[in-house]
Amino acid sequence: METKLYQYETAFELSTKRIEEERLGETLAVQRPAHVRANGKRFYIESYGCQMNFADSEVVASILANAGYDSTTDYLQADVILINTCAIREHAEQRVRNRLQTFNAVKKRNKGALVGVLGCMAERLKEKFLEEEKIVDIVAGPDAYRSLPALIEEAETGQKAVNVLLSREETYAEINPVRLNSNGVTAFISIMRGCDNMCSFCVVPLTRGRERSRDYRTIVAEARDLYAQGYREVTLLGQNVDSYRYSDDKTLVGKKLVDAKYSDGVVNFARLLEMVANIAPDLRVRFSTSHPKDMTDDVLHVMAQYDNICKYIHLPVQSGNSRILGLMNRTYDREWYLERIRAIRRIVPEAAISTDIIAGFCTETEEEHRDTLRLMEEVRYSMAYMFIYSERPGTPAAKRYRDDVPEEVKKRRLHEIIELQLKHSLESNRADVGKTFEVLIEGTSARSAHHWYGRNSQNKVVVFPKGDYCPGQYANVKITDCTSATLLGEVV
Ligand code: SAH
Ligand code: SF4
Ligand code: F3S
Repeated sequence: METKLYQYETAFELSTKRIEEERLGETLAVQRPAHVRANGKRFYIESYGCQMNFADSEVVASILANAGYDSTTDYLQADVILINTCAIREHAEQRVRNRLQTFNAVKKRNKGALVGVLGCMAERLKEKFLEEEKIVDIVAGPDAYRSLPALIEEAETGQKAVNVLLSREETYAEINPVRLNSNGVTAFISIMRGCDNMCSFCVVPLTRGRERSRDYRTIVAEARDLYAQGYREVTLLGQNVDSYRYSDDKTLVGKKLVDAKYSDGVVNFARLLEMVANIAPDLRVRFSTSHPKDMTDDVLHVMAQYDNICKYIHLPVQSGNSRILGLMNRTYDREWYLERIRAIRRIVPEAAISTDIIAGFCTETEEEHRDTLRLMEEVRYSMAYMFIYSERPGTPAAKRYRDDVPEEVKKRRLHEIIELQLKHSLESNRADVGKTFEVLIEGTSARSAHHWYGRNSQNKVVVFPKGDYCPGQYANVKITDCTSATLLGEVV
């Protein structure tokens, strides 16, 4: 029974290719800028976790390339092997530890090779990493990447090098991330770092530090630059993008910043979205992730106003029960969340809505679990990321509550949630059959060399015969068929 459930979960994850920790550790190849002299050393970097970690790896690659390093996509050839890690669930950390075993074998063969751990797991474990995993030479947290060249030099002398200082200011604002592994059509732009929300289950505030927003001018400049290079879609990234707030006045902090107005020189998420949407009508804009508490009508009106802001909102609910939401410290209850859903339906009627759900949080009863299923029935998400609660050391939930829902019960609840979501995803896709969508072509379909794949505004993957089009172009595609994960169609 257990293996079957696990296989089922994996099959679903693969079918959506979206669950963060199931993403393969992608490698990255970069070119050293022409004016930078080579230092004769090569680095290899591999990333796990969310999009923000992948975006960070591009910043790391840029920093190292500017310090004279060349890159390699073969870790056997590397002088420095870097692994950018995720700590969100126990399973994510286990994958990293397994991967370190592989690198251990490399080190035995190539004595000079250094292994560096970056990202959220590095921040969570700090020096402890060096004790627990003997092969690790460098530990660098998410705000310490500018110091990587120095850390590598330190490690070359045989010492262990650690920098896990979190910052209140670092946004890597002016560092232009390298994007050589991309499809040349869609790109991610980090607009903020950290998180101040303190959801009780979540390790992110501990690993990424305090929330800070990046200067909007550097964001707009980066988006413009991408457009000039031929990119046609940007996704604005952050743990909580809709709480974006930037001011040049550094005395505006905390509540003062929240209360300050546009006329005071403060740029909030709605204004930023507008600025990026105004770059060009054929540059699409997406964003991820939004916290329900900050999804204001102001943001929704801007979405409705601009055709090039994609009609898609990822609005993690976590649970459909108000008592559990209280324990999770999500700061909204079921009714409040459903009111936001109604506001989206009213202001942006074509929007698709997706979510994140956690099954089996501390003390969750059967009836409370059914509240989650009932909420799903009410909202009818187009897509969802669904997880079993995984207790994370140091989080408020780990300190305050007992992780008391038995593993089999958690798995069964997750299974019920996945079943229902598969049904809803299929229904949502079936309702699109016969409709025509504008699709931005991203590349060749993984299943067929004769088909393109791209996405519509609602973030649904659309596959269709190639014809005379090419990646980066928009095509109007009439949907003729679907699965629960993909729409199939023909150009009209
Ligand atoms: N900042 C984003 C979420 C980032 S983590 C947001 O608030 O929307 C992505 C998802 O992982 C969360 O939405 C949550 O559903 C899940 N998650 C986080 N911590 C978890 C834990 N300890 N166990 C299981 N799932 C967790
Ligand atoms: Fe974690 Fe909550 Fe912050 Fe999302 S909003 S990163 S779930 S603390
Ligand atoms: Fe993981 Fe850190 Fe992202 S914990 S999900 S890589 S912010």
